[in-house]
Amino acid sequence: MSRHKLKKFAAVAAAPNVLYKPENIQNNWHKVWFQNHNPITLELGCGRGEYTIALARIFPEKNFIGIDRKGDRLWAGARVALHDQLKNVVFLRIDIQNLLTYFGNNEVAEIWITFPDPLARGTKGRLRLTSERFLPLYQKILVKNGVVHLKTDHENLYRFTKNVLLQYDVKRLYDTADLYNEPIDDIALTIQTAFEKKHVELADTIKYLRFKFC
Ligand SMILES: C[S@@+](CC[C@H](N)C(=O)[O-])C[C@H]1O[C@@H](n2cnc3c(N)ncnc32)[C@H](O)[C@@H]1O
Repeated sequence: MSRHKLKKFAAVAAAPNVLYKPENIQNNWHKVWFQNHNPITLELGCGRGEYTIALARIFPEKNFIGIDRKGDRLWAGARVALHDQLKNVVFLRIDIQNLLTYFGNNEVAEIWITFPDPLARGTKGRLRLTSERFLPLYQKILVKNGVVHLKTDHENLYRFTKNVLLQYDVKRLYDTADLYNEPIDDIALTIQTAFEKKHVELADTIKYLRFKFC
């Protein structure tokens, strides 16, 4: 492992706003971490935390938790949040498969899934963040009428997700295969990570789904 990576690992381990497998946090985020009653939004697979940080700046009246299993990526967002003293942001380093260890029923108001790894169909397809393995977890932790947003450049993943959703009692609130060719009804949709910008520059269309469990 490179020296640079080792340094980053040490930094992320010491960062006060990156929690690694915290204990006794389930149902306790408001009391233990945020010390307010504002609604909690998760970004799943947040990478460098760009979307989480941008959301936190736009919506100071909400709490944000960026989740990823890669500590060195989270460190980028954690550094910005510390520098800008963003009190409504924290990062959680876990595997999303273990979400129920860290969040209780109805603890989360909203979930963003931004540019998830498309992964091939078959065994790996089951690890897609919008597969049958993950959706029931989201359903459990979301409040009634809690909303899930998916943004992706990947046609297959978009179609796959719509197919998976057919198995659930969900209400699709917005569905477009070309987000930036539609009237945008939510300022949060104008946020673009470096990953998204790269795809937009390549003239790839961005697909967007918004849904809630009934
Ligand atoms: C393609 S990147 C997108 C990053 C970011 N959302 C963006 O738009 O720039 C996908 C991210 O999801 C994370 N990821 C994928 N599966 C995960 C899982 N099961 N648990 C935690 N993180 C996961 C990866 O580590 C990676 O950082």
